[in-house]
Amino acid sequence: MPDTNAIDPRVFPSTARRGSSCGELKIQNVRASDLAAEYGTPLYLIDEPEVRATATRVREAFETECARIGSQAKVFYAGKALLNVAVAEWMTEEGLGIDVSSGGELAVALAAGVSGGRIGFHGNNKSVAEIRAAVDAGVASIIIDSEQEITRVAEIAAEAGVRQSVMLRVNSGVHASTHDFLATSHEDQKFGVSLDEAERLVQEIRTHASLDFRGLHCHIGSQIFATEGFRESARRLLGLYPRLGDVPELNLGGGFGIAYTSAEAAQVTPIEDIARQIADIVADTCAELGISVPLLSFEPGRSIVGQAGVTLYTVGTTKPVAIDDHADDSGQTTRLYVSVDGGMSDNARTALYDAQYTARLANRRSEAPEQLCRIVGKHCESGDIVVSREMLPADIAPGDLVAVAATGAYCWSLSSNYNYVPRPPVVAVNDGTSRLIVRGQTIDDLVAQSVMKNGA
Ligand code: LLP
Repeated sequence: MPDTNAIDPRVFPSTARRGSSCGELKIQNVRASDLAAEYGTPLYLIDEPEVRATATRVREAFETECARIGSQAKVFYAGKALLNVAVAEWMTEEGLGIDVSSGGELAVALAAGVSGGRIGFHGNNKSVAEIRAAVDAGVASIIIDSEQEITRVAEIAAEAGVRQSVMLRVNSGVHASTHDFLATSHEDQKFGVSLDEAERLVQEIRTHASLDFRGLHCHIGSQIFATEGFRESARRLLGLYPRLGDVPELNLGGGFGIAYTSAEAAQVTPIEDIARQIADIVADTCAELGISVPLLSFEPGRSIVGQAGVTLYTVGTTKPVAIDDHADDSGQTTRLYVSVDGGMSDNARTALYDAQYTARLANRRSEAPEQLCRIVGKHCESGDIVVSREMLPADIAPGDLVAVAATGAYCWSLSSNYNYVPRPPVVAVNDGTSRLIVRGQTIDDLVAQSVMKNGA
């Protein structure tokens, strides 16, 4: 029988463990109950040393493998996964660039002191103001996503009197094995241009003196476990390079999957292996084609911050509900609905992608028998589910703390104010201490958005 108290280090941050007295969850030696008392719940925790160590590990994996094949690597952290000034500072200090996909993300990176030369700028519909801000910041590259954008970026760069480095996002046509909404390189979707159009559009980019074409870009999707897609995509893009003349760079995006549950842990390929496999296919393909190996760039997001994040909630109510049509796989016929003080506003992923998560009782250990549970939020929607299925101790009760693992990526980023629920704060934990890195909203903040009749 699985241990409902177990803290799996393949899903939780590696410093997460239960304390010796009442078995309370500690991360970076900081107790869950102390954090809840100081900052309230819901609360996003992020293990700072784990984020930094993972960022360095990913950067070194790609650098080492690219050096082995006679090239170089640049790693841009995909800020859409989780971005704030602290995270941007950590990435810079660990030697990564930042990939941004909106004027807002760009502004946060710049506010953190990230130099433009370490920023990549994405988006399928960048506004003129956003492109201007990126050009003014001197970003390392603007990733062009459509034919219309070529002239738009060229004109803005010309007005600014600069030669802007650009890449062209191409759909490799590789179908990554992931949830459909996360697969961005199918032909019938909004990102990038097709392989067939790429050569013509590169020639068009080169007609503009204000643009400096650096290479092709491709991102096949997110939360991908199988490595074949990355390799095949690299091979297809490189297949165009002999016809493109001198192209210094190839950007292969991000998308490396993480484990949200213990069952998924075996599917995760270590980043060193992914880097080696990609480097091998790039080296072999370049040798076949008789071209030199370009500089390789990558944009991992989730794989850097995902596992370092944990959301803490307080249980408000519990309610046993009979499972009507058939018993669960566990054989249990009653599901305990555990309502917590957040929900789809702080974690939209379960509702959006049917994502699976791992939850644990955080304020204590319990020897009670296991109970089939569903962790649900406080929103007015029956799809407001945080963790669809989890075995928890049957004595879980109002006032208990629940920790949901692997919420570091795309939870704060996708958070909303549905039902006027304020966004929770983000707190970094590090060696026995905690630090607020993103303030939570208050109800007053939300009320103040409405404009009164007198204009106030
Ligand atoms: N580069 C580009 C161009 C991207 O579009 C993305 C993610 C990344 C890099 C980073 O991918 P990662 O390494 O994090 O998988 N909201 C969804 C994920 C959307 C990903 C969008 N693009 C989720 O919560 O699963």
